[in-house]
Amino acid sequence: MKVKAVLGVALFALGMSTTFAQEMSNEEIVERIKPYGSLHVAGAAAADAGASAARSGEDVYNSACVACHGSGVLGAPRLHNGADWQPRLDEKGLDGVWQNALSGINAMPPRGTCSNCSDDEIKAAIEYMIEGI
Ligand code: HEC
Repeated sequence: MKVKAVLGVALFALGMSTTFAQEMSNEEIVERIKPYGSLHVAGAAAADAGASAARSGEDVYNSACVACHGSGVLGAPRLHNGADWQPRLDEKGLDGVWQNALSGINAMPPRGTCSNCSDDEIKAAIEYMIEGI
């Protein structure tokens, strides 16, 4: 009888400690992988933004083109300036000036130095520059 009781207590204690140890280690595991988990999610979000979310023409213009096209540096056709843009569009069409913007023309560097801009983002920036001319 006494032996059984001791055994019972021992088993009970063993059971408790096993459960406790199990809970602790699960918590520890969660704590340990948390930084990697959130890092991974943040990394994936950043990668997605880079890969798929196209910047607007205005954004591209403001980050890559404004330095020259804002004030007409080196003869760059200026933002929303019909006198600067119209002759080029008449001569080459939108596709023509787009191709020149991609490959560079005279003092205009290829892609206006925006090497990570997609072809479409460059086109959107041109469309923004000639909007309403
Ligand atoms: C370092 C200055 C500079 C930057 C930055 C720049 N451009 Fe230019 N861009 C020029 C110059 C100068 C010209 C005029 C070139 C010529 O016809 O002689 C030009 C011309 C153009 C043309 C007309 C091309 C043609 O065939 O007539 C387009 C379109 C254009 N740029 C788009 C862009 C876009 C889009 C960006 C930003 C992504 C950009 N540029 C950034 C200097 C720049």
